[in-house]
Amino acid sequence: MVEKIRNNTLYFDGCNTVELAERFGTPLFVYSQTDISKRFSEIRKCFIEGYPKNRVAYAAKAFCSLAMLKLVEKEGMCVDVVSGGELYTAIKAGFPAERIEFNGNNKSVEEIEMAVDYEIGRIIIDSLQELDLIEKVCIEKGKKMDVLFRITPGVKSDSHDYIVTGKKDSKFGVPLDDEVVLPYTKAAIDSEFVNFLGYHFHVGSQLFDNGSHLQAIDVILDLVRKVKDSFGYNITELNLGGGFGVRYRDEERKSFSYFLEPMMEKVCNAFKEIGIEIPAMVIEPGRSIVAEAGLSLYTVGSIKDIKGLRKYVSVDGGMTDNIRPALYGASYTGIIANKAEEPRNDTVTICGKCCESGDILLKDEKIANPEAGDIFAVFSTGAYGYSMSSNYNRNTIPGVVFLKDGEAEWAIKPQGFEDMIVNDMIPDSLK
Ligand code: LLP
Repeated sequence: MVEKIRNNTLYFDGCNTVELAERFGTPLFVYSQTDISKRFSEIRKCFIEGYPKNRVAYAAKAFCSLAMLKLVEKEGMCVDVVSGGELYTAIKAGFPAERIEFNGNNKSVEEIEMAVDYEIGRIIIDSLQELDLIEKVCIEKGKKMDVLFRITPGVKSDSHDYIVTGKKDSKFGVPLDDEVVLPYTKAAIDSEFVNFLGYHFHVGSQLFDNGSHLQAIDVILDLVRKVKDSFGYNITELNLGGGFGVRYRDEERKSFSYFLEPMMEKVCNAFKEIGIEIPAMVIEPGRSIVAEAGLSLYTVGSIKDIKGLRKYVSVDGGMTDNIRPALYGASYTGIIANKAEEPRNDTVTICGKCCESGDILLKDEKIANPEAGDIFAVFSTGAYGYSMSSNYNRNTIPGVVFLKDGEAEWAIKPQGFEDMIVNDMIPDSLK
């Protein structure tokens, strides 16, 4: 745990959060580098040590910035990007191109050209048209790319409908249908312009049970057998996606080894039985790396006590920096950082400042008696908070501070009003 309580104050990665709020302003995201590195070490221990071909590609969508990707790069990991923007950020952060992997269900020609120009490590092909598109770009540029096919394994997983991706009815991946997958695999195997390595799946996000990953592996192994039997081709790589659940409130977080060990065992046993060399295995964790490493700090403003109904405590951010409660009904927990040891006997609803009744961050939460000017900290906001932030109501996007052992530095400056209107134009017709 990087959070500690000392002298009635919340500390995060050795830093006094109330002082951070004063020094850097609120709303503010703070990230513990120590916690992020700890997660990578946990994965390294159970997934890489003893399996030197395996790779971890951090899913940048969870939180992407120069500082974050620099840290991922320094940890020796790979990165999974899903857009030209994330790819650009990875390159600018100094990521060696061969450690970049590109996912996405509708990559544009420009994005594919960018990937081919940089000669990134892998393109994960998501649709039948994409193979043709990549071949065309490779022919033009005289290059050959390493590719995998993303398969929709047709398994169910237990999570919010919006973040379940492995079921048959999905916009992601090539449908698992022998008449579709096998001819495409053959085309990729025979292609002079791509080097087909294997398959990818991602079953969903915020999962606490390894069942759907294991089921998906069975489905993919079946395909591996068919590809060997039908085309005499040996798959050399399997990408098992991400989706490992984290603690937002009182969920019991499962260890990486709980997910990864049985997955690896299944793959290794099956490959031995099929009689082919154990493949390189890749995972794409996003949330499980950064969620709990992030904390949001807000300043309390207006307080409305609607007698007999509810007490609304407004903070200076909201759905523009954390859309997850409004979008998925996601539940968080938080405390008043400057009253960390005071009894939590007030039941309040923490709301944001957007003109939207659904802009509620925490509902009916027990906290210490709130007053304007208090610093309210929301835990586990490191994944899909900043990365899904918006300028709704022309609120500016908060800054991000990276912490390490009591030291704090800017990782992303807060957006200013000027930054927000930088691309606005007044058309001549209005002048
Ligand atoms: N790989 C692929 C192909 C994915 O689609 C995703 C997530 C990941 C890896 C990383 O999954 P993770 O380890 O973070 O669970 N905005 C939603 C989450 C969307 C996840 C989309 N794909 C949320 O805030 O819950």
